[in-house]
Amino acid sequence: MADFTIEPHLADALGRLGEAKDERLRELTAAFTRHMFAFIEEVRPTEQEWLAGIEFLTAVGQECDDKRQEFILLSDMLGVTMLVDYLNHGSAPGVTETSVLGPFHREGAPKLDNGTTISQDGIGEPVVISGRVTDEAGAPITGAVLDVWQTAANGLYEVQDDSQPDYNLRGIFTTDGDGRYALRTVKPVSYPVPIDGPVGALMTALGRHSYRPAHVHFIVSAEGYKPVVTQLFTDDDPYLRSDAVFGVKGSLVVTYQRGAEEWRVTYDFGLERAA
Ligand SMILES: [Fe+2]
Repeated sequence: MADFTIEPHLADALGRLGEAKDERLRELTAAFTRHMFAFIEEVRPTEQEWLAGIEFLTAVGQECDDKRQEFILLSDMLGVTMLVDYLNHGSAPGVTETSVLGPFHREGAPKLDNGTTISQDGIGEPVVISGRVTDEAGAPITGAVLDVWQTAANGLYEVQDDSQPDYNLRGIFTTDGDGRYALRTVKPVSYPVPIDGPVGALMTALGRHSYRPAHVHFIVSAEGYKPVVTQLFTDDDPYLRSDAVFGVKGSLVVTYQRGAEEWRVTYDFGLERAA
């Protein structure tokens, strides 16, 4: 039997995958194994460090329940969620760029007429967001659906905050015959990702802040088109260049123009025809 050295050990570990029935599972496990070996060879952890890593991942799993997904937060704060998002959606001319869905979307938001506000308690600075939904070539899409949600002025989504009405700051709008939509809301604010768990402890240990720049979430969809999951960011936000989860793209930063009674934001969404 050959001496135990790294190269034949890796070849042996990869060789065991040859019998996998699912080819994609084999490919994923092989790549994970190769990169894990390279990682370990690079950082050469002590056994205590390796155990600390396992204990960290165990704590991340134990923090998860039906309301909280600490692994998604870990993926987000490492920048991996946005990498997966980019590799799946890329960017194409005339098509709105994507950003993270985040953990706070809810199905079943109220369907509202254009021009209606999604703020049920009216707390905050009023904003009108309006524009069109078009195809890649700029032709308006009638009947496109915009599912919108955001935090309240205190930085909390209504699911995190018993003091807010149910479905506060959530609504579903539909474009008119010219592809136009308009909604009223309040100016969003920056807010921290949850930092009371193991991922927050890691961010603190790394000297990182936990804030996301103010944004409004959108899922824009229309029959025959690929839906876009995205966010519109406030141009004057101090965290725009250091979003804790790397969700900001230049094309998603919008200008809040101060009107006489309310802020105004104009944004056109572009959808790509489904194959
Ligand atoms: Fe958010």
